[in-house]
Amino acid sequence: MSAQSLRFTLNGQAISLEVRPIERLATVLRREAGLTGTKIGCDAGDCGACTVLLDGAQVCACMVPVGQVAGRDVVTVEGLARDGGLSDLQQAFHRHGAAQCGICTPGMLMAATDLLRRIPRPTEAEAADALAGVLCRCTGYRKIVDAVLDVAGTAASPMPPAGCAVGARVPKTDGIAKLTGAEKFADDVAPADALWLRLVRSPHAHARFTLGAFDDLHARHPGLVRVLSAADVPGLNGFGIYPDVKDQPVLADGYVRYRGDPAVALVGDQATVTAIRDEEVPIDWRVIEPVTGIDAATAPGAVQLHADKPGNVLIEGLVRRGDVAAALAASDVVAEGEFETGSVEHAYIEPEAGYARRVGDRIEVGACTQAPYMDREEVANVLGVERHQVRIVPSACGGGFGGKLDVSLQPILAIAAWLLDRPVRAVYTRPESMAATTKRHPARMTGRLGCTRDGRLTALAFHADFDTGAYASWGPTVANRVPVHATGPYRVPAIEARGRAIYTNAPPSGAFRGFGVPQGALVHEGLIDELAERLDIDPLEFRLINAIRAGDVTATGQTLETSCGLVACLEALKPRWRASREAAEAYNAGATSLRRGVGIGCMWYGIGNTSLSNPSTMRVGLKRDGTLTLYSGAVDIGQGANTIMTQICADALGVEMARFTLIMGDTDLTADAGKSSASRQTFVSGKAAELAGRDLRGQILRLANTGDAAAIEIGDGRVVVREGDAGRAIDLAELAEDANGDVLLGEGYFDPPTTTLDAEGQGVPYATYGFAAQIAEVEVDVELGTVKPRRIVAAHDVGRAINPVQVEGQIHGGVAQGIGFALMEEYIPGVSENLHDYLIPTFGDVPEIECILIEDAEPLGPYGAKGIGEPALVPTAPAILGAIHHATGVRIRRLPATPDRVRAAILANQAGREA
Ligand code: FES
Ligand code: FES
Repeated sequence: MSAQSLRFTLNGQAISLEVRPIERLATVLRREAGLTGTKIGCDAGDCGACTVLLDGAQVCACMVPVGQVAGRDVVTVEGLARDGGLSDLQQAFHRHGAAQCGICTPGMLMAATDLLRRIPRPTEAEAADALAGVLCRCTGYRKIVDAVLDVAGTAASPMPPAGCAVGARVPKTDGIAKLTGAEKFADDVAPADALWLRLVRSPHAHARFTLGAFDDLHARHPGLVRVLSAADVPGLNGFGIYPDVKDQPVLADGYVRYRGDPAVALVGDQATVTAIRDEEVPIDWRVIEPVTGIDAATAPGAVQLHADKPGNVLIEGLVRRGDVAAALAASDVVAEGEFETGSVEHAYIEPEAGYARRVGDRIEVGACTQAPYMDREEVANVLGVERHQVRIVPSACGGGFGGKLDVSLQPILAIAAWLLDRPVRAVYTRPESMAATTKRHPARMTGRLGCTRDGRLTALAFHADFDTGAYASWGPTVANRVPVHATGPYRVPAIEARGRAIYTNAPPSGAFRGFGVPQGALVHEGLIDELAERLDIDPLEFRLINAIRAGDVTATGQTLETSCGLVACLEALKPRWRASREAAEAYNAGATSLRRGVGIGCMWYGIGNTSLSNPSTMRVGLKRDGTLTLYSGAVDIGQGANTIMTQICADALGVEMARFTLIMGDTDLTADAGKSSASRQTFVSGKAAELAGRDLRGQILRLANTGDAAAIEIGDGRVVVREGDAGRAIDLAELAEDANGDVLLGEGYFDPPTTTLDAEGQGVPYATYGFAAQIAEVEVDVELGTVKPRRIVAAHDVGRAINPVQVEGQIHGGVAQGIGFALMEEYIPGVSENLHDYLIPTFGDVPEIECILIEDAEPLGPYGAKGIGEPALVPTAPAILGAIHHATGVRIRRLPATPDRVRAAILANQAGREA
């Protein structure tokens, strides 16, 4: 169909475009109208990120042929703000912290605008119903609902005065861009003249292949500029998290190890590379029986997937302390069991996207990432160039959760742009994103946990096998982190805990919010519930008896000196726990098919890398015009690092936040702050930001020759330092500028004190730990096996809540992902590679979440802060499983607890009772 002239009204303006009527409205808005505020998360009507208003009603713009909007009225997120100010709804989102990464936010705003037009004062149920078509992976929806119900509330508070930023409920410093559509995500920033790249991936989990000649393909598709294969990789054709395990090829070299492994890359104009069908590409596949699952991979004679890993065992982690066999034998009660979890997809709403361009003998890569300095190293390796020749420019990141810690398209884009000397861009489709990128490790775990008659834990024997899939990715981290955490946050004198990462032909398992700890928590929490029941001790009281406290020694022999807030979390939950358990039991006394239950889960989580150097460097510069620039390598993936770092640095410096601008993650401009993972940025980079602020403050005070208590006032062109009644001015024009235009530059460096673990897993793996306890209330339909969470109460020891809104948002989002992990999410290659077959929690799946913030200050942390990103998720699934047991009497030990599994367990339980 040829292009036609199409007239319609767009954000109040009459426009005319030459487009093919069959084009998707979302594509036309972004490409022809330049309105990139409308996002594309799936192009299939599943995610709602592309929601716009058509004649006032919400529609998915990816599902509307643009021919249908002729003569009609279209409003996008860019059309919401009027007269230079945010709409009431946008202000409410800003005030409530309803946007985290912001990729879903335009769609949410448009759906909510439609709702409020129809129902100015909606109920929560009406709001949830109206917004149900838009998925959010970050927020758990709670603050979005709050914002919609409070649309007419008061305006957001102004920025706090100097010295009062830490602890304040400050709106996101980058929030407004996310609310107006101005934020630039990875698919919004490529050079206009960029070629497009598309990877042709293996449709087989295990195969060898040979490539034919590409002459015919070029002849049939003149827009095809180049087909890249493994032979074109200039440097090392391998990447991976660990310096000594670069086992994942950029392009497979005749052998693929999972469905999704890339074989060749097509580079050309967008229409051409999109139109070429995979079957047209001359690849001769010779399928091999795949190695599926841990048993097959470890069976005698199993095909060895990597030459240097006999038995397909990538790595084994161990923590051993005391005589476990003797302690278990001497225990009054021992609970044991096997637990299993499936593969879980990150399902961030922003698929991977990016561009690369060659700039002389350097390469610039713009992409969504959680780890710009790691990306720089990987790109340098595959190009065979020096690191300083690579510049990584992170875009805004539309969700990561660990899935954007590994490089995805960065290496191949860099190779294409390097070889062709032209900019090249790519964006993964939703199915490609799901098929090709890492997953949460499927796990099979066994545990034996003993205790005394009065409920004191004595010993734990624990073993976990993790299906690490085709390549190592973060398998070593998971195999080592889980044994350290195997006891949970409890005093257990004797332990032997092992974790293995096993290669299979599944998609690579990598980092996903918790590095295996959410899986491991099922074991200690599940067995504790059983011990408590057998001893007729209340589950919360049992945990209180055993809760680790300051002064206790962990399984790795580390003495926890300070900041151990689990007891405080449990004490805070106690009144709610008792009331909720009694209410559920009273309800069940008269219930038939619907039964209610209340469960509890606890966790601890080591903040930062396990037993590895974990440094961050932050800088803050002062320009002649009085602008402060925070050079932050800590990538904000929606968790709020941009805001948190500014709050901390501002207070350390002693000036108001409003003076700050921030440069995020650009490896040419920021120092290495490490990756945004392991819940480390607030603790590690936050401390570095504090030290940078103090460093700059010290420089200013020295210039003014004043004491430490002096107040700093920064104005245009000068700094005034006041001490008592005296004021001294520093004329910034008299100071020399550096290359970035800064006249003064403060720097902070922090590397948390840890030690390596010895052969028995003894040492100090983390400088500090987060603690939490959550209560889950659920309703189970025993006839259907469905489980509906009714309420979550989450008590978290975060050391210090630098920004309570952000902390609550992290808890909400973590709980929502925990609900998905517990009840619905399981990725199956070739089956659930889209967002209508792979289910993540929607508005209706996430209940009320009450957050209780415990602040047991960590002396090493910035203003006492630790971390919250991963701790938020860990206790949710165990609490839900405990609640299911309370409601029904069955113990579910295979996640997700889908209705068929729950129903089967109920039936088996009934059969057992009747037998
Ligand atoms: S992009 Fe349109 S619904 Fe997902
Ligand atoms: S804020 Fe909703 S997907 Fe990130």
